[in-house]
Amino acid sequence: MARFENKVVIVTGGGSGVGRAASFAFAREGAKIVAADLDEAGAEETAAQIELSGGDAMAARTDVAVSSDVERMVERTMHRFGRVDILFNNAGIAPRGTVVETTEEDWDRVMAVDLKSAFLCSKFTIPIMQKQGGGVIVNTGSNCSLHGYPNLAAYTAAKGGLLMLTKQMAADYKKDHIRVNCVCPGVIVSPMTEKVWRDEGKDPEKMDKSNMQTPEEIADAVLFLASDAARQISGVALPVSGVHPW
Ligand SMILES: NC(=O)c1ccc[n+]([C@@H]2O[C@H](COP(=O)([O-])OP(=O)(O)OC[C@H]3O[C@@H](n4cnc5c(N)ncnc54)[C@H](O)[C@@H]3O)[C@@H](O)[C@H]2O)c1
Repeated sequence: MARFENKVVIVTGGGSGVGRAASFAFAREGAKIVAADLDEAGAEETAAQIELSGGDAMAARTDVAVSSDVERMVERTMHRFGRVDILFNNAGIAPRGTVVETTEEDWDRVMAVDLKSAFLCSKFTIPIMQKQGGGVIVNTGSNCSLHGYPNLAAYTAAKGGLLMLTKQMAADYKKDHIRVNCVCPGVIVSPMTEKVWRDEGKDPEKMDKSNMQTPEEIADAVLFLASDAARQISGVALPVSGVHPW
């Protein structure tokens, strides 16, 4: 029996990188997937590939920073699949900058996409999980949830907040059998990182990736946290950053 047979999983940022890898991994283990992403083409490609492999998936164009978008995405999920078992809050952006360099606009956008999004998606999903008798939420934090990192002021503040939101929701919804955990990757070889390298004039092909993770390796940890094997784990940060943190 596959671990996620007939479970319904919402994956934000499901159109790329970790979100796409996790969507494929959940689908391989029997889950029905909602790939929610601002990048509609990316989400549609994820859903199409799952369906081509015989799975069941839906793409939902969603700006996870916008309440009405999130509400509509959850409504569409309920209309198509009738339940939500797992919410993977994973969409994110990571513009560079120290506090002095970061514009107010960038600060607000990072807080909205990397932190408020998890608040909104959880807010609209938890009442469904409560009615169902339980559920699982996994948030994508970062090593930046745990430590400062040069030139990522807004991102580190948002990811630190996301870890505390994880712990808060774990405490609030334990009584409803809803577990909430935070996966904390190091550096992932994904489109997000490759864009940073290109912006810095570096060739992604030539970067030393020996201390980095693949999206699939992060997805493995996400599936563990979402699985019954982690039934006694809630409110934790799980670093997935290899042997050397940085
Ligand atoms: N890349 C890294 O090194 C790294 C390290 C630690 C943590 N993370 C985190 O992992 C998560 C996934 O990152 P990734 O590396 O797969 O990046 P990615 O850029 O490949 O994927 C992120 C996805 O989020 C989507 N997205 C961005 N803003 C959105 C919005 N407002 N609404 C809906 N979707 C939106 C993008 O369209 C994209 O499909 C992010 O939360 C990121 O912060 C990344």
